[in-house]
Amino acid sequence: MKFFADTASVKKIAELKTINLVNGVTTNPSLILKEGKDFHKIAREICSLVSGPVSLEVSSTSIKEMRVEANKLIEISDNVVVKLPLTWDGLKLCRELSDKGIKVNMTLCFTLNQALLAAKAGSHFVSPFVGRLDDSNIDGIELIKKIRITYDNYQFNTKILAASIRSQEHIERCALVGADAITAPPEILHVMADHPLTEKGLAKFLEDWAKSNQKI
Ligand code: E4P
Repeated sequence: MKFFADTASVKKIAELKTINLVNGVTTNPSLILKEGKDFHKIAREICSLVSGPVSLEVSSTSIKEMRVEANKLIEISDNVVVKLPLTWDGLKLCRELSDKGIKVNMTLCFTLNQALLAAKAGSHFVSPFVGRLDDSNIDGIELIKKIRITYDNYQFNTKILAASIRSQEHIERCALVGADAITAPPEILHVMADHPLTEKGLAKFLEDWAKSNQKI
């Protein structure tokens, strides 16, 4: 399973990179806003720091405007993946870009039907939003499972990039149902290492080591 960082923070991406947790990066307009810096500068920095796919999202809705933006985004770097909304116009542009060999990530996917359309339109990634579905009392992981089964049934090559990841449990469940990748905020990737028994065990080992009066 690939791990993507769902952030526009260059500093956080650099830190996660040290333990191979950045197979790719996803950004969105809200994450760019959070950084409060120039979009082009952030995008260039991330793309030069990360060799894997970096999803940069368009910020309009008509096919005409999205096409103009997509063409600008792919100029930023070779590893840019154009992130398009899962709308009818988004799908049309997805087909157009995919036919030219440009990688697309269809974002804001909430149903199996939308995931099917993304695959038919030739999208490289589809991003089902697990956490936002959970917020609406729909099991987001169930959607990942359904997409996995369906894509396997018909040998679709579109990669399932589970997004809107909010917990360690989401990551474990995505792994169990076969998501190709997850994209999670750096804070969630950090807490994956935590367990109270790890802390307790470590405290006891350190205490006993101190008592032993030895050195390594
Ligand atoms: C995906 O590519 C999005 O950037 C992201 O996962 C959205 O997550 P959120 O629902 O926590 O905003």
